[in-house]
Amino acid sequence: MRDQADKLRQMVKNSSRSNTGSIIKSNSHKARVITVTSGKGGVGKTNFTVNLALSLANIAQNVLLIDADLGMANVDVVLGCSTRYNMLNLLEDKVSLPDIITEGPRGIKFMSGGSGIYELANLSNLELQYIIKQIALFDNWADFILVDTGAGLSRNVLNFVMAADEVIVITTPEPTAITDAYAMIKAYAGNQGIAPVNLVINRVMDNEEGQLVVDKLTKVASRFLGQQVKSLGMVYEDRNMRHAVKQQNPLVLSYPDTISTRCIENIAHLMLYGNPVAQPRGIRGFFHKFLDMKW
Ligand SMILES: Nc1ncnc2c1ncn2[C@@H]1O[C@H](COP(=O)(O)OP(=O)(O)O)[C@@H](O)[C@H]1O
Ligand SMILES: [Mg+2]
Repeated sequence: MRDQADKLRQMVKNSSRSNTGSIIKSNSHKARVITVTSGKGGVGKTNFTVNLALSLANIAQNVLLIDADLGMANVDVVLGCSTRYNMLNLLEDKVSLPDIITEGPRGIKFMSGGSGIYELANLSNLELQYIIKQIALFDNWADFILVDTGAGLSRNVLNFVMAADEVIVITTPEPTAITDAYAMIKAYAGNQGIAPVNLVINRVMDNEEGQLVVDKLTKVASRFLGQQVKSLGMVYEDRNMRHAVKQQNPLVLSYPDTISTRCIENIAHLMLYGNPVAQPRGIRGFFHKFLDMKW
């Protein structure tokens, strides 16, 4: 037992000198950590997140994608590549940071949170210190860290939402999806969320349909919750999305000129060049806040 603790102490010490290769950028650089969530399941979170990551990479951004959907972790299927380990495996002897990361298309990096993310809450301080120190190396490399969550209003999902610098809520124009998106916005506001909630309306037939949803949610969130909601844009209904999923080749790569690709690229541009966001706290800030929360 003592051996184990000693070894870990040594690993924590060594980790500050570890060979980080190309992931060093600058000490003060902090990634924007963004949680993508929805309320209702099946509205297109995972496909949106994967294709947003690739669109941001296409405009020279370094992106780390974290699959935090424990029940239906399927970022790997949409992305067409998988990881063997999750972050908890870092505590194993022969597993180091590069082992838990998969290099995806356009140089994006992908990490499966798996059950590892939730188990963080049960680790000793020393173990946590080691894992967070390792993962925090991404603050130097990444411009964006995108966290894809499961559906629903569980404590787990809400903790990801509350710990992030920014949150994106996705809905379709269906009334059930809108109601669940509102429930998520309400939970955010009720947990003292301070940032505006970013909204993406997926599977719209035309701009008018999307705008109606934006207007409705903006109005009720402001009137009943005092919560600001900002539209990031809409993504058109596009059967190429389904084709891409079937081919296990992300939409923006397999159908670069299709309408939904253009929509997602517009959103990536807006996120990068639109109104500046509050000072990001980075992945270290994200995990510290995440672990401070009620479980
Ligand atoms: N813009 C779109 N147009 C057409 N189909 C879509 C669109 N977005 C998502 N879909 C379909 O919805 C399915 C579920 O999407 P997914 O990203 O897995 O949802 P979630 O992660 O919210 O559960 C996809 O397999 C795809 O076929
Ligand atoms: Mg999903």
